[in-house]
Amino acid sequence: MKNSIQPNPFTPKSGIDPRVFVGRDKEIEIFKRKLDDAIKLRRFDHFLVLGEWGIGKTSLLREFKKIAQSNKVLASYLPIREFQQQDEFITATVNLISQIPKSIPIKYQTLKNFINSLGGIGINLPLVGGGVQLPDKNELKGDPQVILLDALINLWHSVKSETEVLVVLLDDVQNYQHISGYLTIIKNVLNDDTIIKETGFLFILASTPVAWAQFLKKHHPIGRYFTPIIKLGRLDLEETLKVLDQTLHSTGVVFDEAIKRRVYEYSEGHPYELQVLCSFLYDNQIAGKVSEDSWEVSLDMAITQLGDILLDHLYNEASPSEAEVLKALSEQSGPYESYAITGKMKRFSAGTVNKYLIRLVSKNLLLRKERGVYAFPDRMCREYVFRRL
Ligand SMILES: Nc1ncnc2c1ncn2[C@@H]1O[C@H](COP(=O)(O)OP(=O)(O)OP(=O)(O)O)[C@@H](O)[C@H]1O
Ligand SMILES: [Mg+2]
Repeated sequence: MKNSIQPNPFTPKSGIDPRVFVGRDKEIEIFKRKLDDAIKLRRFDHFLVLGEWGIGKTSLLREFKKIAQSNKVLASYLPIREFQQQDEFITATVNLISQIPKSIPIKYQTLKNFINSLGGIGINLPLVGGGVQLPDKNELKGDPQVILLDALINLWHSVKSETEVLVVLLDDVQNYQHISGYLTIIKNVLNDDTIIKETGFLFILASTPVAWAQFLKKHHPIGRYFTPIIKLGRLDLEETLKVLDQTLHSTGVVFDEAIKRRVYEYSEGHPYELQVLCSFLYDNQIAGKVSEDSWEVSLDMAITQLGDILLDHLYNEASPSEAEVLKALSEQSGPYESYAITGKMKRFSAGTVNKYLIRLVSKNLLLRKERGVYAFPDRMCREYVFRRL
């Protein structure tokens, strides 16, 4: 028996670097320009990347880190963990100042002074492993803003002989939502005179749009501070085909042209959805070929997986009657005009159907395109609803 098929090259997991990074040229251009301004003009425009789940925020930030470091600029990538209401700002501060130095490729010796300075406020940063030792909560006194400010200044003095700028990539800042005032602390620290004049930090934040809109509602000035705002969208047809072709390169597996196009039609260029779909298609190859025969089974598996990670949860928010409306819609491709929907749903009055539509929008199961026009968030979402019992 021969086996010349390589292990599955697709990355159907969030936060895993894709085998080939495609597109995002405009976004990378902006990053390079901001990095250049930071190096040459000492101007630090801390900016923001906004994008829905799975659209490629993490991959883009990690690409930024790669680009920075290939230009001898050190960069630290860190995903923000979720904080609960009872967590205080001080915990978030300790988290930042212990994690930022951990992902910089730099000798321990260089960071020695910084680590010693943390010891002074009771934080013990171990050389290896994740276990940061903290003093008892009540021993860690002080203003979180002052502690963060001092720590960043100290960190800068430790690394400045090694890099002209220190890029800090904060992923998933939506996880600050229960302690949303913490973003104001980060902003105040970055806005501090000493930070501006003596250090070289360039912060780039990534968040989901809904969470960011909530931050803005509560703390307006944040919005003006982190600009430009880069909004990440889906990949286009050409980029999607490039992901497929380059990922499949020398794997021993080929997808039919028609299947490749269908991957685009169904995923609509959503990076996560296309990775999931392609990953199952790859597993369902026959003699190194992926054709019509492999399609349905792979699509079903992809939809089940999207259900597990996201859509089941969304769908379960709909009441039985709302689900009935959704299911009826899923039989055709949208967008749907409300008068046509009310005509179809004879069991309910027009007013009731319209009420359901509005609720489905607020539950993120439908989008309101314009007045009286609705659509599913995307094709995979419609396919999911269509297949639900
Ligand atoms: N530019 C790209 N080219 C190719 N594949 C990509 C690209 N961006 C993202 N991907 C792939 O898409 C998937 C989702 O990407 P990623 O985890 O970066 O998204 P995210 O927005 O951070 O998602 P989450 O909301 O889960 O944090 C991953 O499998 C990743 O490998
Ligand atoms: Mg991510």
